[in-house]
Amino acid sequence: MALTIQPTGATLGATITDVDLAALDDATWIEIKDAFNEYALLIFPAQALSARAQLAFAKRFGEIEILNENMPTIALTNKGEDGALLDDDSFRMKLLAGNEGWHTDSSYMPLSAKASVLSAHVVPSSGGHTEWADPRAAYDALDQAMQDRLRDLTAYHSYFYSQAKLGHEVAVGEGYGFFEGEPPLRPLVKVHPETARPALYIGRHAGQIPGMDDDAAEKLLSELMSFTCQPPRTFMHNWAPGDIAVWDNRCVLHRARPYDHREERVMMHTRIKGDPATESALNA
Ligand code: OGA
Ligand code: MN
Repeated sequence: MALTIQPTGATLGATITDVDLAALDDATWIEIKDAFNEYALLIFPAQALSARAQLAFAKRFGEIEILNENMPTIALTNKGEDGALLDDDSFRMKLLAGNEGWHTDSSYMPLSAKASVLSAHVVPSSGGHTEWADPRAAYDALDQAMQDRLRDLTAYHSYFYSQAKLGHEVAVGEGYGFFEGEPPLRPLVKVHPETARPALYIGRHAGQIPGMDDDAAEKLLSELMSFTCQPPRTFMHNWAPGDIAVWDNRCVLHRARPYDHREERVMMHTRIKGDPATESALNA
């Protein structure tokens, strides 16, 4: 069975059909891996994978990054353990609110993520989409002088910083604020380890830039974010239960879109570790 790859029409992303991810042979995997490097975001409608099959698919991309409670796959959901919907001022909902800001996964960790796999299980009747943006195309669209300037800059990525901007004070050891000390320092232009394509490496966790005062850094970073996160460099997916997506955190930004929290939303997320040779912080 041959894959069908339909580019989204934005500068990133493709929808792939005519494949069963639960029964992936090596030849088909190579086609998916090539499409992943080209499109950076792949959406597979109506796969309805079991937790085990999602994990096996994620492992094709590399080693799993364990997020919490030693679980390889975590639920992103507004439903609590007791089955009731969570309050907006609960700790978990504040973590989820952060996902509505443009970000790339684990940039605030000493080792940033390679990729993320996300599947839809319960979706609200409206809203709750996921949107992705293409910092490769954004870099390409900048003029040479700006590209040269940005290539010499680095930025600190801090979970404490990004949540504090939302009014959410995170303590060391809480949420994803795992460590004390200097936050990870990362280049502002990341060269993709497999394709060698440069991309802006930004997002809500990035705040300070060494050698620049904080206001100037925030202004530059927010201008780069607005420039990146607009058409034709964005793509939004309206989830149906059973859909699964994978994106490349080394060169893609993403965010969750709002929805009515009186409705349930359940997404399952599996994260793939970065390569220590290319995804380690400069100060790690
Ligand atoms: C994620 C994420 C957004 C969403 O899975 O890393 O940010 O739409 N998800 O739930
Ligand atoms: Mn995320």
